Amino acid sequence: METPYQNHIDKADYDHVYEPAEDSFLLIDALEKDLEYLKNKNPTFCLEVGSGSGVVITAFGMAFPETFCMSTDVNFKACVMSKQTAAHNKVNLETCNMDLAGSFTDNVFDVIIFNPPYVVTDSEECGGSDITASWAGGVKGREITDRLLNMIPKKLANNGVFYLLLIEENIPDEVVQIMSNYGYKSETVIRRKVRNEQQLVLKIFK
Ligand SMILES: C[S@@+](CC[C@H](N)C(=O)[O-])C[C@H]1O[C@@H](n2cnc3c(N)ncnc32)[C@H](O)[C@@H]1O
Repeated sequence: METPYQNHIDKADYDHVYEPAEDSFLLIDALEKDLEYLKNKNPTFCLEVGSGSGVVITAFGMAFPETFCMSTDVNFKACVMSKQTAAHNKVNLETCNMDLAGSFTDNVFDVIIFNPPYVVTDSEECGGSDITASWAGGVKGREITDRLLNMIPKKLANNGVFYLLLIEENIPDEVVQIMSNYGYKSETVIRRKVRNEQQLVLKIFK
């Protein structure tokens, strides 16, 4: 998968929007690793929740030009940047400035992608809509993630797949258990140690 062109972004804009980092690129690498699997799915609709700069959903859109790509972010500036990144790379992207995925039609998305705010913080720090929303994950770094996990059975198509980036502090085994209770299997697609952080991408599907 190609890395999207990002030179249109002014460095100062990253004071307000998450700058693509190792986690963003690990997620792209996970999608690339699963490219044949995803091609076989021939996805009609893909949603990235929390698209930030838009680098991940744009990479997806470049690899799947026939797929209708959508993204959400609570940070309005991230929505604007995602749209620009997609446009600079000739990807058609619909962006919505909203919380997670609650307002969408049920069971429509063939692929859902999320690189959540995963840093363990106090609950009070979590739930904003500015740059803090990029990293502040509350208890276990999972307060935002867990809310999306509970929406997945309603938002993912029956044959759909959900890619979720986690770190060890998020206790991935608990995520696997939560999704198993909903009838989903989970597999680790890729993992990488980044400085002191063990990052991994879970693939969640039926
Ligand atoms: C770690 S950043 C990832 C950004 C981008 N996807 C990437 O990989 O570079 C997390 C993103 O999730 C967004 N976010 C946090 N809480 C959210 C929520 N409740 N609904 C939608 N987006 C949210 C943040 O604003 C931020 O852009």
